[in-house]
Amino acid sequence: MHVVVIGTGFVGVVTAAVFASFGNQVTGLDIDPQKITKLSQGEVPFHEPQLTEMLQAQLGQGNLHFTTEYAEAIPAAEVIMVAVGTPSAPDGNADLTYVHKACESLAPYLQPGAIVCIKSTVPPGSFTEISKKMKALTDTPFVLASLPEFLREGSAVNDTLHPDRLVIGCTDPTAIETLKQLHEPFQAPLVVVRPESAQMGKYSANAYLAQRITFINQIADLCEENGADVEEVTHVIGYDKRIGNHYWYPGLGYGGSCFPKDVKELAAYSRSVGQGYNLFNKIDELNENRIFIKMKEYEQLVGGWEGKRVAVLGLSFKPHTDDLRVAPSTKVIPHLLHEGAQVLAYDPLAIPAFQQWLGQPEGLEYASSVAAACTEADVILLLIEWPELIEYPYGDLPDRTNGQPRWMIDTRNQLDPQQFTSEMWQYKSTGRTYDRER
Ligand code: UGA
Repeated sequence: MHVVVIGTGFVGVVTAAVFASFGNQVTGLDIDPQKITKLSQGEVPFHEPQLTEMLQAQLGQGNLHFTTEYAEAIPAAEVIMVAVGTPSAPDGNADLTYVHKACESLAPYLQPGAIVCIKSTVPPGSFTEISKKMKALTDTPFVLASLPEFLREGSAVNDTLHPDRLVIGCTDPTAIETLKQLHEPFQAPLVVVRPESAQMGKYSANAYLAQRITFINQIADLCEENGADVEEVTHVIGYDKRIGNHYWYPGLGYGGSCFPKDVKELAAYSRSVGQGYNLFNKIDELNENRIFIKMKEYEQLVGGWEGKRVAVLGLSFKPHTDDLRVAPSTKVIPHLLHEGAQVLAYDPLAIPAFQQWLGQPEGLEYASSVAAACTEADVILLLIEWPELIEYPYGDLPDRTNGQPRWMIDTRNQLDPQQFTSEMWQYKSTGRTYDRER
């Protein structure tokens, strides 16, 4: 099938490469010529495991091409997927400028019966608006559908190849058959619903997962007050099949390019339809404030940040990416610097991105390894569960020269507390009992 994917962010490139790997003729389209040149040469402009190999293989086999020209790509396309960015506008609503621009640019070149699928996350209600705008620009009959995306950064290729389900938001029977055929190689459950439900489903899935994280963070905080251990609590609740035992890591709150934005957008959408009193506002507020509340708590534990050498481990918002969007480091490090700490930051991948974002303010140094960050540190703050960071043998670090114990703050409960039983360590986790029992 001839498929065009518009937008070459991580959803667009992964989608293009995966559909090409199933033998489709895929064109990736973006208005940024630099991105297109790189991609045409087999270079992925961001970090995503397995993607470069897949991209190069598909370019080599001739299934995948890239262009900046709508006039070149759209006329042959049977299915067009719009996967451009939808950043948050200042009022919390999704900014659909790029989606509208892409739809307006493609409309004049459509072949009769082409299916235009919105993969970008757009709020419920925007479907009718997009359709109206496109119909004003072409007399060619086309079908507008919604194909929301559920992949995660850092495991995007694997998630796309092995989805839990595929959602087709469409009401046109012929287009539904074509889209079913296109998605057959995935061998995943296909859920066919109306476009509005597909879009609402996407927001609901992300908002539900975000509230789940917010919920377990609150439970973890309560555990710290009463001798319960959040890891045991998740075992207790996880055996209930209605609840499940996964996706329960507590920490400093959810980050990334999706959950924070989608929860805010759902809150804004609720307000816009007169439902200002809603759950989503509260989830967002709790998540926004969490880091500062926890940093105050840690400050008291370690006896103030002023003059302390603090190793901050993990700068990206999650492992296997250099994406800094709503990463805990982007709040934690400026806060520590403001409070007068000396920060030694380390990440296996994201140091260049962080340097570009924050530069080299006074008090901040970038370390070349876990050991370089931690050896002289008074406090180690483990923010992200990169394998290199959680597998490091911290217990083997030399003692501090002043004879005082060093703090390990394991914000995501990733380390074995037994490493920190010596008198030269103090260990703090989230919602666990070890620190209290020593
Ligand atoms: C998320 C969803 O998981 C995907 O299904 C969705 O397609 C994607 O958003 C999107 O809308 O594009 P992603 O943001 O890449 O994917 O990453 P997640 O692995 O879901 O993590 C999001 C945040 O939640 C991270 O800050 C992570 O540390 C945090 N998290 C996750 C927890 O604090 N605890 C957990 O148990 C799980």
